Amino acid sequence: MRIAVCWLLVGLAQAAMQDDEPCRLWLARSHLYESDAPKYGLYAGVTFKVNDTLPNMEIGIPMVDFQDGPHSSTYPEIMQALETFFWTADYAGTAKWEGNHSSTILVPGVGVLANYHAGYSNIDWVQSAVFNRQYPEAWTRPSSQPHPSRGATSSYFNMTMRASADIPVGMELFANFGEVWDPEINKDDVYEQLLTRWDYQGADAIMKRMNDYLTLYKENLSGELGLEVVDFMRESILGPHHGRRAKSIRSLLPATPKKIHEASQLGGTFLYRNQDMIKSPDWLEDRGVCVDTLEVKPSTKKDAGFGAFATRDFDVGDIISVSPMITMYKDMFDMYRSEEVNSKDDEKKVIEFDLDTKIGEQLAMNYAFGHSESSVVFLPTSPYVAYMNHDSEEFNAYVDWSEHDDVVSRDELTAGTLQELKYSPQLSAVFQIVAVQDIKKGDEVLINYGAKWEEAWQKYKRARRKTSWTQRAMDVAKEYADKPYPVDLKVGKIPYPEGVITACFIKAEEVEDGRPKVNTQDQQILQWTGPRTDADMNGMDLVICDLVDRDMDEKGSYTYTVKARVKGTNEIAQVEGVAHAAVTLTDRPYTSDMHAPGAFRHWIEIDDQRFPQHWRDLRS
Ligand SMILES: *[C@@H]1O[C@H](CO)[C@@H](O)[C@H](O)[C@H]1NC(C)=O
Ligand SMILES: *[C@@H]1O[C@H](CO)[C@@H](O)[C@H](O)[C@H]1NC(C)=O
Ligand SMILES: *[C@@H]1O[C@H](CO)[C@@H](O)[C@H](O)[C@H]1NC(C)=O
Ligand SMILES: *[C@@H]1O[C@H](CO)[C@@H](O)[C@H](O)[C@H]1NC(C)=O
Repeated sequence: MRIAVCWLLVGLAQAAMQDDEPCRLWLARSHLYESDAPKYGLYAGVTFKVNDTLPNMEIGIPMVDFQDGPHSSTYPEIMQALETFFWTADYAGTAKWEGNHSSTILVPGVGVLANYHAGYSNIDWVQSAVFNRQYPEAWTRPSSQPHPSRGATSSYFNMTMRASADIPVGMELFANFGEVWDPEINKDDVYEQLLTRWDYQGADAIMKRMNDYLTLYKENLSGELGLEVVDFMRESILGPHHGRRAKSIRSLLPATPKKIHEASQLGGTFLYRNQDMIKSPDWLEDRGVCVDTLEVKPSTKKDAGFGAFATRDFDVGDIISVSPMITMYKDMFDMYRSEEVNSKDDEKKVIEFDLDTKIGEQLAMNYAFGHSESSVVFLPTSPYVAYMNHDSEEFNAYVDWSEHDDVVSRDELTAGTLQELKYSPQLSAVFQIVAVQDIKKGDEVLINYGAKWEEAWQKYKRARRKTSWTQRAMDVAKEYADKPYPVDLKVGKIPYPEGVITACFIKAEEVEDGRPKVNTQDQQILQWTGPRTDADMNGMDLVICDLVDRDMDEKGSYTYTVKARVKGTNEIAQVEGVAHAAVTLTDRPYTSDMHAPGAFRHWIEIDDQRFPQHWRDLRS
């Protein structure tokens, strides 16, 4: 045990000393730490300016019909904790149609580890990145023999976040969880005490204009006069406004021109009031672990898709990364057929699962670490750890329990029973990835997934070779990059493979006066207004659509008239002028690669000697 502790310290010291590359992301105890979760947070190791992307082009792993699934009653504590880790699948575009009822996605890295702060957020999704992903070439090669990792790994990669405010070095990252998530919303009594991010945003907008004004008339507003102007703005203009927001905003505005200038320089009223939140570089080095040690590139391994590559050199024994893990149980991954039925007492629909027929396992199982003899598994949350590929002979790293955590030690955790583990706070289990060979910057980091995994994979590959492969949306989408989509399809003449349907990005407004506002079927007619560029594409605007007519605009590009349930209404509307680039193809629920019958599912085996004996509840 002692030896492992020494390794960690040596490892960290070495990693820190040899670094030429600055570490952009640190994992450390969250500023919001209380005696239970959330325990970890991510901190900026460099300055991120507004709109800079974060180093997290991660995978999104869809959890299909999981949230309302049968596990909520078996594992209520875990399911509740997972809510704060999972995103609604709107953020991963077509992933929202993987399931019949609900699709949520798990996005390791920033997507899980960045916390929520009611008063502040400084990072947000680049909604378009997941639509602009470049599939590995081998995946899209037309061939009757499928690439084996299709259906075994997530096709929703390139999930990217960006800074939504200037983030100084040492600041913790707080994600915009979206307004619907806020558990405090609509509780006025709580909001009386609590400053919200809307208050800070409001104060920032006013402060910016005050600062611009004070800067412009700097010469003329020195001394008393400047103070008086600020006072006038705060008290005489904002003062008479009653209500909680006006009061909150006024309380957030600094009282002197000098302080207004300082607060503006620092990046806003939140950072100005909470300067203790910004940690020093020494604090990061002492208390944190650099988790900016891997990057994603096409793997050097055949059949593996993408892989994790070292962004710096490591010596034998160095810690490459540290990953808090999500604790789950194997049966939570089981999938069952389900349907919506009317509940007995009222109109409300409920989802009924047929627990007698297991139809498969969630894809997330392939990213989990576990042991054949135990029902417990752990999902990694640190950046790019989920991308580490397997090599049973030439692996250069291994996974072990970490001693980094100063709250729940490895010994304490692994001494607990399986039952206790179920109730311990999520992310208490922490893994470290340790180099077993010298690793040079640019080397692919490979671990040994274990003999059981290898056996299962070889068996799966042999079986897959014998099956024919159904074409998916991804296979046909390329074909229609320039070619017009067919319109007004008669049943039986659908040119797409089974299961492939059209979806459209739609923002729309009422048609101009003078044009018909409803069609012969009494459906509202709307004019398409966007999104017009790749960068504006957003999963929230993506809806299933039927193409009914095609036209050509003045630039010679195809446009379509489509029928769709436009966001905000539940009615089908007719939308005109939809650009070719706003039409895409997607797979119907339960027909994409990850749902292929017999798709590969196996956890990564944790080394026998490292897996506690008393957790082996499945030993026969
Ligand atoms: C950041 O990006 C958004 C959306 O693309 C844009 O509206 C905004 O002007 C950008 N802000 C800065 C400071 O570049
Ligand atoms: C990720 O998205 C960006 C655009 O948002 C794109 O330029 C890049 O090629 C994508 N990367 C991959 C690997 O798909
Ligand atoms: C500021 O004051 C100076 C003289 O004190 C005057 O010349 C100048 O016009 C003033 N500037 C503005 C913008 O009023
Ligand atoms: C999903 O819904 C379709 C259509 O209602 C149904 O046929 C199918 O069995 C459902 N699949 C699952 C796994 O529930």
